[in-house]
Amino acid sequence: MTKFNSRESEFPIDPMFLDRWSPRAFTGEAISTAELFTMLDAAHWAPSSFNAQPWRFLYARRDTPHWTKFLHLLVPSNQIWAQNAAALVFIVSKSHMRLPGSDADVPSHSHSLDAGTASGFLALQARKMGWYLHGMAGFDLERAIVELAVPAAHRVEAVYAIGKQADKSVLPEKLQAKEQPNTRLPLQELVFEGGFPHT
Ligand SMILES: Cc1cc2nc3c(=O)[nH]c(=O)nc-3n(C[C@H](O)[C@H](O)[C@H](O)COP(=O)(O)O)c2cc1C
Repeated sequence: MTKFNSRESEFPIDPMFLDRWSPRAFTGEAISTAELFTMLDAAHWAPSSFNAQPWRFLYARRDTPHWTKFLHLLVPSNQIWAQNAAALVFIVSKSHMRLPGSDADVPSHSHSLDAGTASGFLALQARKMGWYLHGMAGFDLERAIVELAVPAAHRVEAVYAIGKQADKSVLPEKLQAKEQPNTRLPLQELVFEGGFPHT
C-alpha cells in the first residue's frame, strides 16, 4: 500500500495518484500561457481510439477578456470558489472520426473516454508543476454551446478550474468542511474476474 496526502491505497501505487485531488480553495494567482500550454501539451499525449485525438480545449485565463464569460457559464455554487482559479478550461470531444483510408466520418465509440484520459493527464501534469485541477459538470450546457461557438457533433464534457492551492479559510464555511482529500471505494466493489458476478 502507499500512504500519502492522508490517503491510503490498497496496493503500492505511485504517490502521484494520491497527491492529485480537487481543492476548491485557490489563491487567485495568475497562470502564464506557457504554463497552461505545458499542461495542455501533456493532455494531448493521451491515447485515443485510432489516434483520432477527439479532445478540444477551450480556455480563459483570469484577468483576460474571456475570463468573465467563462466564469459566468458555471453554476453559482461553482462560481463561488472557481472565481479564485487561474484558468478555466472546457474539455470538448469530437464525436465523429475519420478512419484510415476512408473519406467519410463515422461515429466514435470512445470520444468521451479519450477526452477523459486527456483530463487525467492534464491533472497529473498540473500537479507536477505545483498547480491543482478541479473538474466541474456544474455549468450551463446550453449557454456554453452558444457562447463558446461549439460546432455540431461535439460534446462539452466538463470544465476544469486550474489554480494554486490556498488556505481553506478563503472558502465559505460550508465548503471549508469538505476541503480535504477524499477516499475511494474498495477495489473489491469495482473489480471482477471474468465478468460481473451473477446475482
Ligand atoms: C467530470 C467531473 C465533474 C465534476 N463536477 C463538479 C462540480 O460541478 N462541482 C464540484 O465542486 N466538484 C465537481 N467535481 C469534483 C469531484 O467531486 C471530485 O473529483 C471527486 O469527489 C473526487 O475527489 P478528488 O478529485 O479530490 O479525488 C467533478 C469532477 C469531475 C471529474
